[in-house]
Amino acid sequence: LKELASLNLKASAQPMLLSHNILPRVLSFYHHWKKIYGAMFLVWFGPTPRLTVSDPALIREIFVAKSEFFEKNESPLLVRKLEGDGLLSLKGEKWAHHRKIIQPTFHTENLKLMLPMMAKSIEEAVDRWSDEMSNTGKVEVEVSEWFQNLVEDAITRTTFGSSYKDGRAIFDLQSQQMVHATEAYQKVFIPGYRFLPTKKNRISWRLDKEIRKSLMKLIEERRKNSTCQTLSEECPNDLLELMIKASLKETQINNSNISSSCSPLTITVQDIVEECKTIFFAGKHTTSNLLTWTTILLAMHPQWQEQAREEVLRVCGARDSPTKDDLAKLKMLGMILNESLRLYPPAVAIIRRAKIDVHLGGLHIPSGTELLIPILAVHHDPAFWCHDVHEFNPARFAKGVVYAAKHPLAFMPFGLGARRCIGQNLAILQAKLAIAMILQRFSFELAPHYKHAPSVLMLLHPQDGAPIIFRKL
Ligand code: HEM
Repeated sequence: LKELASLNLKASAQPMLLSHNILPRVLSFYHHWKKIYGAMFLVWFGPTPRLTVSDPALIREIFVAKSEFFEKNESPLLVRKLEGDGLLSLKGEKWAHHRKIIQPTFHTENLKLMLPMMAKSIEEAVDRWSDEMSNTGKVEVEVSEWFQNLVEDAITRTTFGSSYKDGRAIFDLQSQQMVHATEAYQKVFIPGYRFLPTKKNRISWRLDKEIRKSLMKLIEERRKNSTCQTLSEECPNDLLELMIKASLKETQINNSNISSSCSPLTITVQDIVEECKTIFFAGKHTTSNLLTWTTILLAMHPQWQEQAREEVLRVCGARDSPTKDDLAKLKMLGMILNESLRLYPPAVAIIRRAKIDVHLGGLHIPSGTELLIPILAVHHDPAFWCHDVHEFNPARFAKGVVYAAKHPLAFMPFGLGARRCIGQNLAILQAKLAIAMILQRFSFELAPHYKHAPSVLMLLHPQDGAPIIFRKL
């Protein structure tokens, strides 16, 4: 229990959240159960038994060696509406086809073209803090909200590029929908709640309709006017353009082949709508949580904050924001982000389902069995990390991710195998850029009323927010 307490995963005091805070508490008992039952044991989540698998060698089998025997499980209906019918939930050939089309948007070379735009939006935001500081020399900021805004901006640019303005308006609506639906999600233990025409549900349904309608309109306009041919700073390969080009190409192929019925490999306008929704859903809170936890950890550990600042100032010199070459040189900042992802992985667990009967670690797993891979627990397991497993120690990543733990797969904040996170490069690029630009300008500390309360509501987030005091350097 002492070990578990040091995880410091506070159970929520609000009954409304209780059902969703079972996960971190169950994970907190993980070491205890692992000692008794070994690396695989069954845990009952209400009526559903899940086989918890925490041995990295077995996890590798699930995601890589025997991945064809396992599939993603379905999200609850309410979450499905929010996340869209895109990459997160698609399976089989359709998933592989969409992944192939979308992947190039997230290549580092493409994302780097968006750096100046990302830096501009960060700069505008931090300038506002500087203005607020002019009287007292300091400003208190609730960073979790602030980072959400910042991340929205980067995802909008990656997705919509030249249609940024219209795209931003649509994603603003999706943000509102996520707030209303999250409130409904907290009440899913009330049977049929999601179907009740409550005020919040009605707002959420109306927003959903509006988002899909606006996305359709935007996509149709871009389809008519698909001009963006070359890769440049003004016009990087945005996600919408890639998907529209693929859909136009497939329409031409289908038109020239009279006998072809609608193939499962066609990407339709409706598919593009769903993928836009998915990317926003999957990227927004994950990346903003990474930024929030990193800022909290650096505020708690001023010596690391100072070392990271020294690195940024040395590498960037007099430049206002890091260039792409500067970012590649910020090794310590990279280590800090990894350590933040280890201690507070935004996605605490991944679930898979056995498609057929399969053997795993000497056990016969019947078809339909759900498996839970407890990322958070593996990241905190002293069997793979040193005695200081619960401490913030970025130095453990000095020789690279593979050598940080006793097993190279004991660190997996972005998942593993073919379905690993598609937005990893964007998340890391944006996090490095934002933290570096903050370190260049401010020193920061926790506000006295900050309460350390990691909690899970879909993702691992600071339940009582993250108030941070910034001072100009
Ligand atoms: C998948 C974590 C940022 C889009 C995943 C998975 C994890 C993850 C663990 C695997 C889920 C599974 O195997 O079931 C994270 C973390 C992030 C982050 C920790 C930030 C710190 C992003 C961003 C985007 C994104 C910025 C897009 C803009 C996706 C998508 C998938 C995914 C579309 C599904 C991929 C597929 O199945 O082909 N993410 N993610 N993520 N992520 Fe991320």
